[in-house]
Amino acid sequence: MLTAHDNEFLCRVGPGTAMGNLLRRFWMPALISTEVPEPDCPPVRVRLLGEDLVAWRNTDGSVGLMQNACPHRGASLFFGRNEENGLRCVYHGWKFDTEGQCVDMPNEPAESNFKHKIKAAAYLTEEAGGVVWAYMGPVETKPVLPRPEWTLVPDEQRVVSRYWQENN
Ligand code: FES
Repeated sequence: MLTAHDNEFLCRVGPGTAMGNLLRRFWMPALISTEVPEPDCPPVRVRLLGEDLVAWRNTDGSVGLMQNACPHRGASLFFGRNEENGLRCVYHGWKFDTEGQCVDMPNEPAESNFKHKIKAAAYLTEEAGGVVWAYMGPVETKPVLPRPEWTLVPDEQRVVSRYWQENN
């Protein structure tokens, strides 16, 4: 039987934990593509490896995956407005692109460059097989996205679903 220490070691997957660091070296399914069905659709909540995130389909069709808490005052970006290639916080209007870079700060003077200094935690995504995959590890160790056969068949020949299962 595992000791309490070993159990903690093996089960914790948050940032900075041993297993969290390991799992962050792989692509993992984050959500089904249809959960963000079209550009500029409402954002959705995603919880991955102990991190509360928000996902949205950008105006250009890519999928953003970023920390849920706004870097300004921590408001939930789930309530943000997905518009013109970015997610805008509804509290004070800071806007972020899919890389987490702040691109607009309406409450700063026009000549301010403060927005360039603000970057939220954001993760790489790719789509394959009707699934949005996320890579949450260091960019320099990003592996190629695996393409099992079921991701290669036409959409109409595949059913993708997900469900919640509690385990350790
Ligand atoms: S809390 Fe998001 S812009 Fe202020």
